[in-house]
Amino acid sequence: MSPLPLVDPDPKATPLTLVTDKAFGAWRDTQGDAVKAWLSTNDFSGKAGEVCLTPLEDGAVGQVVVGIGDGADKWVAGRLARSLPEGTYCLEQITGIEDEKAQVSTWLALSWCLGAYTFDRYKSESPTNPSKLVWPEDIDRAYVEGAAQATTLTRDLINTPAEDMGPAALAAAAEELADTHGAAINIVLGDDLLSENFPAIHAVGRAADVAPRLIDLTWGKADAPKVTLVGKGVCFDSGGLNIKPTNGMRWMKKDMGGGATVLGLADWIMRAKLSVRLRVLVPAVENAISGNAFRPGDVVPTRKGPTIEVGNTDAEGRVVLADALALACEESPSLLIDCATLTGAARVALGPDLPALFTPDDSLAKELMSAGMANNDPLWRLPLWAGYRRLIESKIADVSNSGESGFAGAITAALFLKTFVSEDTPWVHLDLFGWNPDDKPGRPMGGEAYAQRAIFEVIRNRFA
Ligand code: BES
Ligand code: MN
Ligand code: ZN
Repeated sequence: MSPLPLVDPDPKATPLTLVTDKAFGAWRDTQGDAVKAWLSTNDFSGKAGEVCLTPLEDGAVGQVVVGIGDGADKWVAGRLARSLPEGTYCLEQITGIEDEKAQVSTWLALSWCLGAYTFDRYKSESPTNPSKLVWPEDIDRAYVEGAAQATTLTRDLINTPAEDMGPAALAAAAEELADTHGAAINIVLGDDLLSENFPAIHAVGRAADVAPRLIDLTWGKADAPKVTLVGKGVCFDSGGLNIKPTNGMRWMKKDMGGGATVLGLADWIMRAKLSVRLRVLVPAVENAISGNAFRPGDVVPTRKGPTIEVGNTDAEGRVVLADALALACEESPSLLIDCATLTGAARVALGPDLPALFTPDDSLAKELMSAGMANNDPLWRLPLWAGYRRLIESKIADVSNSGESGFAGAITAALFLKTFVSEDTPWVHLDLFGWNPDDKPGRPMGGEAYAQRAIFEVIRNRFA
């Protein structure tokens, strides 16, 4: 992993000032005449996103002034690492913002890092360097490092094509992570899924050349509160025999985005040494087409017991998660969170930027929503509406993996998962996109670690 673009104090660093539109006038009056004139020549007024480089007498850059408007747009620093002339910058001041300074500069440093990211594994030309920021004073360095590394790991895993990030490679990435942090890891591979009672994971993954497997990582003191994270690890989703059309299949390398998100979180939690007993479960499969593929109409047994009628082989994520959630509940964790690129319906409802949050637990929902808001990582709750359970009833099995009607697709998927979760386990399901469909400041197009900062804060607050 490339080092963060944050460096120790450097006397040659170019000073950087962030200013609101309201505070701009008073700030400008503190500047010398040449700078004042240059700012007005450039029509700088402190609007969000405005950037002005002021020159020294020799033509070099004297300082950078960045407008942050009314301060509502939290992502203005997200573009700086890749838009300023390459160099080293240091935060001189932030004017006009009421929020606590340490918090503002912590977020500034993190959003700088998030925007510095590029994925150049397959580029022949050597990658360009982002501009560096001198670590601002009084900031929570561990938070910035933990979050930035976690996001980078998640993005890299998602961006890597399925050919190089199949079930074996995803398991190898988890093994490397376990190695780094001294975690234990167990992989249930191929036909062992049958003998160890994970029939649903096997059914979905058996048609692929790279065998399906269940990644099971554990870390931390045995007597600490148990936190279990489950992530959908469908390394490529062709749709199976209910094959996806061209556009629907194009980005399905990202269908392990939930798994990538929980692996990134695991990296952060272990780096921060939170006092929890962490468990990460990722059923890693490819939803492929072959003579032995599972079929529409098949009935699949599960670890917990309820049988699943396969209404549609493209609703594969919930089938593999059924066995992983059942295993998770067997040790009654204090908190169980699953992340999955589960339905197109969640995207229709909330768009790519807002993961859909489902939980029967009102206080957990509240905690996650407010941690999301506080960490620029918003989520939105949708209901586990019991009245829609009838939409996934099966005539011949205990539950169907797809509603005939398509109504409330994200909700019926969440209700399906609930079938495999114990009543007494505090549980949250996040249906997330895992992907930035276009370039935005701090959020380059491609894999994205949605919900990571929100979840981390909730775990830290609850257990640390
Ligand atoms: N991985 C997809 C869902 C998805 C598609 C997420 C595009 C994000 C972007 C999932 O496996 C799937 O295909 N779901 C189907 C379910 C349906 C067949 C009941 C869907 O949402 O259409
Ligand atoms: Mn699918
Ligand atoms: Zn899928």
